[in-house]
Amino acid sequence: MLKSTPLPVRVPLVREPWGIWKSLNAARRNVLSIIPDVATRQPMVSGKTGKRWHMVMDPGAIRHILLENLADYPKSDVTKNLLRPAIGESMFIAEGAHWRWQRRAAAPVFSHRNVAALAPVMTATATRAVDRIAAANGKPLGLFEEMTSATFDVIGDVTFSGGSGFSRAEVHGAIEDYISEAGKISLFDILGLPAWVPRLGRLSAGAAMKSMKSLANTTIETRRASGQHGDIPDLLDLLLAGVDPETKRVMNTAELRDNLLTFIVAGHETTALTLAWSLYLCAFDETAQTRARDEARSVLNGRTATYEDVENLPFIRMIIDEALRLYPPAAIISRTAQKPDTLCGRDIRRGDTVMIPIYALHRNHLLWDDPDAFRPDRFADRKSIERYAYLPFGDGPRICIGASFALQEAVIILATLLSKFHFHAIKDLDPDPVMILTLRPEGGVWLKATPVENAH
Ligand code: HEM
Repeated sequence: MLKSTPLPVRVPLVREPWGIWKSLNAARRNVLSIIPDVATRQPMVSGKTGKRWHMVMDPGAIRHILLENLADYPKSDVTKNLLRPAIGESMFIAEGAHWRWQRRAAAPVFSHRNVAALAPVMTATATRAVDRIAAANGKPLGLFEEMTSATFDVIGDVTFSGGSGFSRAEVHGAIEDYISEAGKISLFDILGLPAWVPRLGRLSAGAAMKSMKSLANTTIETRRASGQHGDIPDLLDLLLAGVDPETKRVMNTAELRDNLLTFIVAGHETTALTLAWSLYLCAFDETAQTRARDEARSVLNGRTATYEDVENLPFIRMIIDEALRLYPPAAIISRTAQKPDTLCGRDIRRGDTVMIPIYALHRNHLLWDDPDAFRPDRFADRKSIERYAYLPFGDGPRICIGASFALQEAVIILATLLSKFHFHAIKDLDPDPVMILTLRPEGGVWLKATPVENAH
């Protein structure tokens, strides 16, 4: 018998109908474990657990939700209620005109030119990460924590850089506390038990959140008064200069703060996860790791990667694309239907929760060949990937505004690390993919990193 290729870690999906209590208990540990296995074999799965829900994996229907009928499928109340206490009515959760003007005003912040200009911050962070990893001297390293501190450095430097009295550790701590609390609560809501609202209210009124917001306000006011402080405008400078070209509206301090906090919340952990899962996959598949290292070393020649290198590192990018397919950080996105509709021939009623379980979409057998296998080469020809079958950044008008920022950062850091170190898996220390708002490697990504011989 042919020995089948081993598969990287995955979530055991439900194969039998579960009652509400069993679902609730499973979801308490891992939201993804409520996704039925059939979601990886069918275009749509519907059910009722407290309220009516649908999981949509059909690219045409997803296009209908995210692009053609955007107004009928706003972000779900779950998402909004969860995030509002931390990030207000920022671009991430606003709808209609209030979303549109913010998105237009912020668009130039993430233009190709501006994102490219921020690459030196990413390069500097990659150098610091190399030093920290080298200092571990081959001892097991928690790469998820390592990557989280790297991406937090980047987002901290490009949002509130040089802010006097603005403590990054404090912001980080307050956001982490909020996310872990919000994460626990979201599980109940997805299953239709809305008893959590008061708890979140208490949390947002908490001292850490209050002090973080007031520090952010002060930093913004100071910058507004002093003007750009470095040679290159950072995200705060760019957002301060943002004007909606149609309404001419500009953001006031609270709106600037909420959007900058959104960039921090939406941007750093997701990118850290992409890097941590990519490193896990490289340690899992030595052949791919060697190919990626050869590419990185021949392009970088001992240097840390910079913006100019990004387009010359196609295989590194393919590993990142495949990591985002197998472990999409935003593993489920959800909407609330505003009108009766039909999706894949099924009735949608007003108020139904319509989920796009990106994790199951990316592993759907109707859309992908050998979906659970790690095969970066599937991204060798990007045109062969069906657009609405691959959605790590969502799609339509509400597609992630920071996608190119995140990809540039991930390529710079991953290429640099692989050119300097060999990453080895540690027996019996595989991470467990668990969704707590984002798809995290529970237990951590523990690897040993040994220096590559003759690395300059
Ligand atoms: C690998 C890293 C990232 C992933 C996987 C990711 C994923 C996503 C996804 C799936 C959405 C759409 C959510 C939905 O439709 O419900 C989204 C939206 C968003 N992301 Fe990202 N993101 C990443 C990095 C970033 C970064 C670096 C930033 C900012 C610096 C950012 C800022 C935002 C914002 C502001 C939105 C809301 C856009 C809108 O509604 O108009 N993200 N992201």
